[in-house]
Amino acid sequence: MDEQALSVRDAIISRRSIKSFNGQPVEQRDITDILEDAVWAPNHGNRNPWRFVLAAEENYQEFLAVLREFGVPKWKELNEETLEKQMIKFTKASAALFVIVPEDARQKQRHEDFAAASILIQNVMLLAWDKGIGTCWKTPGFLDDPKFRAQLGVQPGERIISMLQFGHFDELPKAKPRTPAEELVTYWQEDSAE
Ligand SMILES: Cc1cc2nc3c(=O)[nH]c(=O)nc-3n(C[C@H](O)[C@H](O)[C@H](O)COP(=O)(O)O)c2cc1C
Repeated sequence: MDEQALSVRDAIISRRSIKSFNGQPVEQRDITDILEDAVWAPNHGNRNPWRFVLAAEENYQEFLAVLREFGVPKWKELNEETLEKQMIKFTKASAALFVIVPEDARQKQRHEDFAAASILIQNVMLLAWDKGIGTCWKTPGFLDDPKFRAQLGVQPGERIISMLQFGHFDELPKAKPRTPAEELVTYWQEDSAE
């Protein structure tokens, strides 16, 4: 194991969602290495309920062209300059990983699969953070758009649950405060149920 690796605790606490990337490249190999580790996420029945579409390196540029075409419908009404401004949050990132999850008809399995894939995504975000790569889990409306889904080869019975952006950044965003767990815990006592 890499001696420089962050502790699990430090990775969890220090990781931030990066919303402002600086355009510096991220290698596809780094992302696939991260995925190889991230698939060790717990998942019920060993269903491995995920598959991925990765747009990285020069293919990320191809993806941006698809996004211009099939992204937000109202972008079509924008002039080139305004569209480029809207696109900055995408063009400054360096790669996008689409996490695709089966939508089991059985509710229990569907919830388990979504939960397992969410754990996998957290694994990816923490492993990337450890390599000095920023990420942001994005859920833009176009992920459910039939035309966009078709571009990614998403099948009926599958759902894209995340567009996970990768990139480098200049400034560490300020952490949004969390509610301390102490305020959220009810400690079980024998008379709790009364
Ligand atoms: C399920 C999920 C969906 C998210 N979708 C978006 C999104 O569409 N756009 C966005 O800017 N951030 C999105 N985020 C990132 C959150 O806004 C971010 O995690 C939150 O601001 C906390 O910041 P932190 O991760 O730096 O602690 C999403 C996060 C999660 C877990």
